[in-house]
Amino acid sequence: MKIEVSVSLLSADFGKLAEAISLSEKFGVDRLHIDVMDGHFVPNITIGPVVLAAVRKYTKLPIAAHLMIEHPWDYIDDFINAGADLIGIHAECYGERRASCREYGQYPKEVDAIDVEMVRRDLQRIRDRGKKACLVINPGTPVGCLERVLGEVDSVLVMSVNPGFSGQKFIVDALGKIKLLREKFDGDIAVDGGINGETVEQVVRAGANVLVTASYFFNHSDPAGVVRTLKGLQGV
Ligand code: DX5
Ligand code: ZN
Repeated sequence: MKIEVSVSLLSADFGKLAEAISLSEKFGVDRLHIDVMDGHFVPNITIGPVVLAAVRKYTKLPIAAHLMIEHPWDYIDDFINAGADLIGIHAECYGERRASCREYGQYPKEVDAIDVEMVRRDLQRIRDRGKKACLVINPGTPVGCLERVLGEVDSVLVMSVNPGFSGQKFIVDALGKIKLLREKFDGDIAVDGGINGETVEQVVRAGANVLVTASYFFNHSDPAGVVRTLKGLQGV
């Protein structure tokens, strides 16, 4: 599969977002990834639909909205109206949380099973509006949870860090999850968190074809080279 690079604006200079966007375009990035955080699903607050709409005006690149928020169903339409082309919803919003993360302020959120009907409803809602539906899983949530809805998603995003911040260390267990998923799923498998020169080859070998990166791209002295290297990798 062809490798695609999705740049997360989380490590960009937020005072110069337009510049970050045009650099991404110039260097051949395939998509932009917007990390939406609410301070409840994850311990950080970032971007809402207003900023996504501003980004939309500056680019024709596809925009993915990664919704790290409680009650994502309340905001799906807002992000689509703001101009997102893909909506990523977290499996952890659709099942009973583990005892370790049930309370307010306990992270990371994790589940062992999801309410299939509830997820289907939201995936369908995204697709009915002509947008791509992506299901996201946190590092602690098993891939098996997704099995019954794989036929109804355009992509799966495997988190390789616990969501909340860019610049974290890659969690190696993600590799096994990607491999398992690739055996059953032909669509896009995206990986998010800790992608860099040391981790990316294993990620691609495991079966991922969409590489999300924030700090590797924005903090590198040669971001154009980063994109070239990532896109030059041989997918499975
Ligand atoms: C983490 C976000 C990621 C993050 C990736 O919660 O979902 O998209 O920005 O950052 P890096 O690439 O620096 O790990
Ligand atoms: Zn993300």
